[in-house]
Amino acid sequence: GRVAVAMGGSSAEREVSLDSGRNVLEALRARGVDAQPVDGIPALLDALRAGGFARVFNILHGQHGGGEDGVLQGALEALKVPYTGSGVLGSALSMDKTRSKRVWQSLGLPTPKFVALPRGADVHAAAQQIGFPLIVKPACEGSSVGVTRVFEESQLDQAVELAAKYPGDLLMETLIEGDELTVAILGRQVLPSIHIVPKGAFYDYNAKYIAEDTRYLCPGLEGDAEAELRALALAAFDALGCTGWGRVDVMRDRLGRNWLLEVNTAPGMTSHSLVPKAAKAAGIDYQELCWRVLETSFR
Ligand code: DAL
Ligand code: MG
Repeated sequence: GRVAVAMGGSSAEREVSLDSGRNVLEALRARGVDAQPVDGIPALLDALRAGGFARVFNILHGQHGGGEDGVLQGALEALKVPYTGSGVLGSALSMDKTRSKRVWQSLGLPTPKFVALPRGADVHAAAQQIGFPLIVKPACEGSSVGVTRVFEESQLDQAVELAAKYPGDLLMETLIEGDELTVAILGRQVLPSIHIVPKGAFYDYNAKYIAEDTRYLCPGLEGDAEAELRALALAAFDALGCTGWGRVDVMRDRLGRNWLLEVNTAPGMTSHSLVPKAAKAAGIDYQELCWRVLETSFR
């Protein structure tokens, strides 16, 4: 049957999703899949009720109409339409970084020290608890939108103001200084890690999608260290109830300790994105990757 490639939507990551979606659509069609783009959840639900599609390739990113937070997944369950990636629980839990961290903590999985900041919380008291440097982010956004690294108290208010522009609570956590790593999961296969080396100090929105000078080392680590990192990523993914495919973001400190940051359940698939790079290192080209992701809906 025909596949709806769900993209765009109304989250802060709309543009990234449209870029991901265009690439996925082209690859699926090149593989002979009858695929059509659909922009956003309302249009998708209309099309599904009209009976136009057999399954959904979900490459919507983010919350609030973004399609990555469990809302779309619940609607698709109700309509009995198969879809790629995690279900309701894994999607919703992964979208909330604070609650993801609580689950990992309870299982003894390493994640940076943090304080949840509801609206109106005393951020200076929280910062005393965490210590500097720290990082302030919206608890439920992606692509580093609204994220600031804070090295001293004088930078704190501005960081909180920026993060507060996005919906939901804020998260303050210890800034881990070291290497930024990510691990993609495809079906039950854990792909080689990627060590991201941004030209600036921080892998921000610009370094993610615009700059051409970010370097990517894949695999990011070697030997036992790489094996340990992959095992941790899979444990983190499973702990949140995630299934199908996704990407686990990790910081590795100067002592070689890994710290879990978050799971992305509909990770970017743009030409700058990480999962395609990891797949390539595992001998899986972009078209094959899209097919393998589509297969996660065959259940
Ligand atoms: N949230 C973006 C799309 C990513 O994880 O790649
Ligand atoms: Mg994310």
